[in-house]
Amino acid sequence: MKKAKIFADKNMQIGKVESKMFGSFIEHLGRAVYEGIYEPGHPAADENGFRKDVISLINELGVPIVRYPGGNFVSGYNWLDGIGKKENRPTRLDYAWRTIETNQFGTDEFMKWCEEANVEPMMAVNMGTGAPQDAGYLVEYCNHPSGTYYSELRKANGSEKPYKVKYWCLGNEMDGPWQICHLEAIDYSKKALETAKIIRWVDNRVKLIACGSSSAELPSYPDWDRIILENLYDYVDYLSIHQYYWNEGCDEDFYASYKRMDEFIKTAIATCDFVKAKKRSNKTIYLSFDEWNVWYLKDVKLEDWTQAPHILEDKYTLQDAIVFGGLMNTLLNNCHRIKIACLAQLVNVIAPIFTQKGGAAIRQTTFYPFKYVSQYGRGQALMTISECDEFDSKFGKVKELSQSVIFDEDANSLAVFVCNYSQDAIEAEIELRSFGDLEIIEHVVLDGADLKAINDFENPSRVTPKNVDLGAIKDSKAFINLSPLSWNMIRVKIK
Ligand code: AHR
Repeated sequence: MKKAKIFADKNMQIGKVESKMFGSFIEHLGRAVYEGIYEPGHPAADENGFRKDVISLINELGVPIVRYPGGNFVSGYNWLDGIGKKENRPTRLDYAWRTIETNQFGTDEFMKWCEEANVEPMMAVNMGTGAPQDAGYLVEYCNHPSGTYYSELRKANGSEKPYKVKYWCLGNEMDGPWQICHLEAIDYSKKALETAKIIRWVDNRVKLIACGSSSAELPSYPDWDRIILENLYDYVDYLSIHQYYWNEGCDEDFYASYKRMDEFIKTAIATCDFVKAKKRSNKTIYLSFDEWNVWYLKDVKLEDWTQAPHILEDKYTLQDAIVFGGLMNTLLNNCHRIKIACLAQLVNVIAPIFTQKGGAAIRQTTFYPFKYVSQYGRGQALMTISECDEFDSKFGKVKELSQSVIFDEDANSLAVFVCNYSQDAIEAEIELRSFGDLEIIEHVVLDGADLKAINDFENPSRVTPKNVDLGAIKDSKAFINLSPLSWNMIRVKIK
């Protein structure tokens, strides 16, 4: 059998994995809100119309924070349309997705839903058609206790207490020509700066997230990040980055996604630190990777002006889940700078959870790596060194194994996440000598003969992880068999 080695040491730490690494995203897009999290009349819906079956799957994923309301949608959204009596709310054209927006779900419903789902809200303000003061009014509506026009309006709408929303995105993907009222970097900087000033005057406890690059393919990348940071450095806390990956026909190129994501992150870090040096600043800007996923962008077909259309409903294959697992490794391995990450998205739209109107909610293939990493990937991420074969891709040579190792000091255990992108089985020797006496307690695998297998309503468990042979421990080395093209989680108890 092919052999490989992975080495990790207790003293070689990358950083703490923040729980917000396992955030997600709900946009007014397709059936994410309507028929996703919100479906009045559904047998599993509560009195607010929130689907409890969906909430229970979200809790199974361990999602702590959810970004809302967009996405591209937010750049044309007037938040005032979504508050007050439902019968008085206007129906609008959403330019971003060519959809009819009824506004039956808005800020107050989202806050209530967050409370029920036990997640923290992360809000984005409209930096497209919106003016800086509109953003200030929204922050006042959400966070100001009382005695002003918008805080009293919130109270009149049924929420006595302020929502105390901490994380605010200054727009969405303003570098993208597809964005409603897209801006050049210098123009975005000016608008975002004035918006940041107003938001902080309204509530200086908030954390602000500036729009960084939304794709490495854009001609403005990575200059966009440099320019906006040169202007906004003292006003923001995080730089938002977005990137999606898909199979363009060559499997190897697709398997290289974990490495491409790493390069994208490293460039963002380098840009932040270049500006830090230029400004002689002591402040470090952290990353909010608030849209990441596998997404078959080329398959997007928009319908004209329908409500809650079936768009961006990618059916994820086993192969997608294995690539997805590699992306999660890369996020963990950069946790010293990525303090927030949001899987885009959560329900129906490029999502791990898929629903039927009036029917079931199922787990897509990508649900599983997310669930296990979110459950066991919290702790100290350790640096790893690997020795394994490489494959060729149009992005250069790529190692066949992508791995991350997390040390949970409280539970006195380690979680090793490994993707095997080889067509062959590999015996991996995982050398953990600094941890002393060890015992393997679980080896979970996602693999299968049919890489294109998906979960659907007819067979929702076609692709599910299984527990396999634990392997062996010898001299603080775990010997594990990794099946061809597989995602693996190995949990090790420190004795
Ligand atoms: O997540 C889907 C879309 O992808 C979002 O609306 C946008 O921000 C990105 O381009």
